[in-house]
Amino acid sequence: MTAILTANRINKKYNPISATLELATCSLTLERGKTYIIKGKSGSGKTTLLNILGGMDKPSSGTVFYEGKSFYELSDQEQSRIRNEEFGFVFQSYNLIPELTAYENIKLPVFFNPRKKVKSNAIFDVAAEMGIGALLQRKTYQLSGGEQQRVAIARALMMSPAIIFADEPTGSLDTATSRMIADLLVRTVRRRGTTLVIVTHEEHLIDADHIEITIDSGKVSASEDTHVLFGI
Ligand SMILES: Nc1ncnc2c1ncn2[C@@H]1O[C@H](COP(=O)(O)OP(=O)(O)OP(=O)(O)O)[C@@H](O)[C@H]1O
Ligand SMILES: [Mg+2]
Repeated sequence: MTAILTANRINKKYNPISATLELATCSLTLERGKTYIIKGKSGSGKTTLLNILGGMDKPSSGTVFYEGKSFYELSDQEQSRIRNEEFGFVFQSYNLIPELTAYENIKLPVFFNPRKKVKSNAIFDVAAEMGIGALLQRKTYQLSGGEQQRVAIARALMMSPAIIFADEPTGSLDTATSRMIADLLVRTVRRRGTTLVIVTHEEHLIDADHIEITIDSGKVSASEDTHVLFGI
């Protein structure tokens, strides 16, 4: 087993008075190349957990280690470098810039990471992987939801991240398109050896091998040993 990301005794409390969320202390280890699905009812803390793991939201206590480094203790600059270069993010609402073409949207991470070298045809390669090679010159407001999400996934893959974090990436799509996109995402990360952490409340969205992380009344548990320890 090669751990890529480890959360040690993390927890999160919002609003100590009204306790909008109290995510119980848990520890978990994500392994390289595996797919993790975070499940739970609306408001259970799925996005919160994903954001803590993805370096976007500091836990109330505990540590998150990425590649042996305590993420939230790194400088702001190093934290954003890792988020930009080594993590990829996919959101339910695609978060594309509508007035830019698909090509320009996919290119954005290159613009934000001028230090990292990417191959000159990388955009075409990743677009081909996502089956959107013919759509590159279209403005993204002219694309369907499924096409827009494929552009957003291509953008997330652009820097060849080690981990992709996806928050309900198919939540705005019909069932057939959801399955197609989820399938494409899972096949792509598997081929590349990328770790995937995906939030979804859709049952059976992913058939391929995966580990389920469930949040229920603030408690985090997993379908197999991810070193999830709770209540400690
Ligand atoms: N910044 C914040 N300040 C205070 N409370 C918050 C904040 N962000 C989230 N919460 C609360 O924490 C709880 C969990 O929110 P979260 O977004 O993680 O849930 P979720 O499982 O992703 O829900 P959904 O399925 O609806 O997206 C909710 O009760 C929410 O109101
Ligand atoms: Mg959410």
